Amino acid sequence: MTGPDADQDVFRRHATSVDVPPRPSSLGLMNTLASWAEHLARVLLQEPLPRRWAHVQGVAARARSLAPVLGADADLLAAAAWLHDIGYAPGLAATGLHALDGARYLRDARHAPAMLCRLVAHHTCAIIEAEERGLAGVLGLEFEPAPQALSSVLTYCDITTSPDGELVPAEERLAEILRRYGPGHLVSRSIQRATPMILRAVEHVQDRAAARST
Ligand SMILES: [Fe+2]
Repeated sequence: MTGPDADQDVFRRHATSVDVPPRPSSLGLMNTLASWAEHLARVLLQEPLPRRWAHVQGVAARARSLAPVLGADADLLAAAAWLHDIGYAPGLAATGLHALDGARYLRDARHAPAMLCRLVAHHTCAIIEAEERGLAGVLGLEFEPAPQALSSVLTYCDITTSPDGELVPAEERLAEILRRYGPGHLVSRSIQRATPMILRAVEHVQDRAAARST
């Protein structure tokens, strides 16, 4: 095999052979799913995509801050926060839909828990961008959406974190995405269509957090 396919094949072999336990059932010293996820995200993103890595660290910090609200789901959601954008990593990006590429990698190369894959596959209303890319059928067939109580938390963490990892209001983050991609871009169209759902998810999580603190 030569050309881009061969390059991608080499990376895939590299990506599955890096110094990360192959599956969460062999966590070893990394005794939480989140610590395994952090290590894997670091390997895939830190060097090739430092700004994306900064964003991911911020999203994970948001998820950690919600741990008292999340209870038994805190570890799963922290892991999803670490891994939600790995589909941007060179060699993993294949379809153009990073949520699908990341989830497929977790499922096929890392044998990650199904709910973690489902969260990554559908994070931040990915189904809308999948529709725009003609991939909604594939995404829905391969990964069932996670329950809303879980997916809204990941959406909240992602959309209240700037590209540099800082805490920002959701509206500011949505505006930043539109500015970055520009009018008419597929991502801009997707985010505009998804905005009402994203803002509902943010409100839902804020209400949950507020209810717990009163
Ligand atoms: Fe993100």
